[in-house]
Amino acid sequence: MAGCGSSNSGSCGSADAKIAQQDMAISSSLDRIKNKILVMSGKGGVGKSTVSVNLALGLAQRGYKVGLMDVDHHGPDNCRMQNFTTRLRVADVKKDGLLPPMQYGENLKVISLEYMMEDRDDPIIWRGPMKVQAIRQFIADMDWGDLDFLIIDAPPGTGDEPLTVAQTIPDATAIVVTTPQQIALADVRKSLNFCKQLEMEVVGMVENMSGFICPNCSETVEIFKSGGGEKTAADFNLKFLGKIPIDPRVVAGGDDGAPYLSSGNDSPATAAFKTVVDNVEKALANKKVVLPMAGSDSSCGCGSGGCNTDKCDC
Ligand SMILES: Nc1ncnc2c1ncn2[C@@H]1O[C@H](COP(=O)(O)OP(=O)(O)OP(=O)(O)O)[C@@H](O)[C@H]1O
Ligand SMILES: [Mg+2]
Ligand SMILES: [Zn+2]
Repeated sequence: MAGCGSSNSGSCGSADAKIAQQDMAISSSLDRIKNKILVMSGKGGVGKSTVSVNLALGLAQRGYKVGLMDVDHHGPDNCRMQNFTTRLRVADVKKDGLLPPMQYGENLKVISLEYMMEDRDDPIIWRGPMKVQAIRQFIADMDWGDLDFLIIDAPPGTGDEPLTVAQTIPDATAIVVTTPQQIALADVRKSLNFCKQLEMEVVGMVENMSGFICPNCSETVEIFKSGGGEKTAADFNLKFLGKIPIDPRVVAGGDDGAPYLSSGNDSPATAAFKTVVDNVEKALANKKVVLPMAGSDSSCGCGSGGCNTDKCDC
C-alpha cells in the first residue's frame, strides 16, 4: 500500500515496525552471546536464584564473560543477593541507545527489575504481556556486549517468563534445579517435559538442599532426603550436574549480598558449587570461546588460515 511503511506513513504499521525493530535488536544482542542458560524449577524456593548467582559468579571467576538476567519480575532477588543498590537513570543511556547493566567485578554483568525501580519494596503487578515485554527489553536494550554465558534466573514453574525466554532465545538451554523430596521431583518433571515440548536442550539437573552437613560433627542429616534429583536426571537421561548441601552460610551469603562463592570459604557447599560450575563448563565446552570484541580483529586467526579449533568453533 502506498505510504505504508514509508517515512511519512504516520502511525500506519508503526506497532509492527517497532516489534520488527526490537526483534532485530534482540537478535543482534543474542548473536554476541555464546551460551544462554535458563535456570528453572517446578517448585518455588528450591534455590534457582542461589544457583544462578553462584554459577554466574563461578564462571566469571574462571575468566568467562558472563551476564546474569533476573526474569523473576515478581520476586527479583538478584540485586539483593549481590548487594547492588544502584538505580538505572535515563542519563545512563549510552550513545548507541543501549543501557549499561550493573557490573560485578570485571566479568559479570547483571540485570534485574529492581535495578530500575524507584522503591524496591513496590510490588510488580503485571499481567503476562508486560512480563514478556520486559524480558524482550532486557535482551534488546541492555549493553551485554560479547558474553560466553548468559544465565537467566526464572521464577518457578512453566509460566510466562520461561515460555518467553524459550520463544525469544531459540538456542536457550536449561538447567533444572530441584530439592530431593518426592513432592519437588513431581513438579520438576513438569519442567523437564516443558523443555521437551519446546525442544529446549537441558544442560542438566542440580539437586540443591541435598542433606545438611553438621558443622559440629560433620555428620550428614538428610532433611529433604537425598539422591532424588540424581535419579530423576537418570530417568530422563540427563546429565546430573551436582548436589549442593544445605549450609547456613549460603543463606547468610544471599541475605548479606555476598554470593557464597565469593566468600573464599572452604566447605562442602563451596566444593559442591564448584563441581556444578565444572560440569556446566564441561557440558558446554565446545561453545566456550570468547567472541572478539566488536570492531577488533578476530583473535583466533579465523579466515587467515590459523584457526585454533580448541578455542574456536567458527
Ligand atoms: N544450599 C543451600 N543451603 C542453605 N540455604 C540455601 C541453599 N540454597 C538456597 N538457600 C536459601 O534458600 C532460600 C531460597 O533460595 P532461592 O531464593 O535461591 O530459591 P528460588 O528457587 O530462587 O526461590 P523462588 O522460587 O522464590 O525464586 C534463600 O534464602 C537461600 O539463601
Ligand atoms: Mg528466585
Ligand atoms: Zn552434629
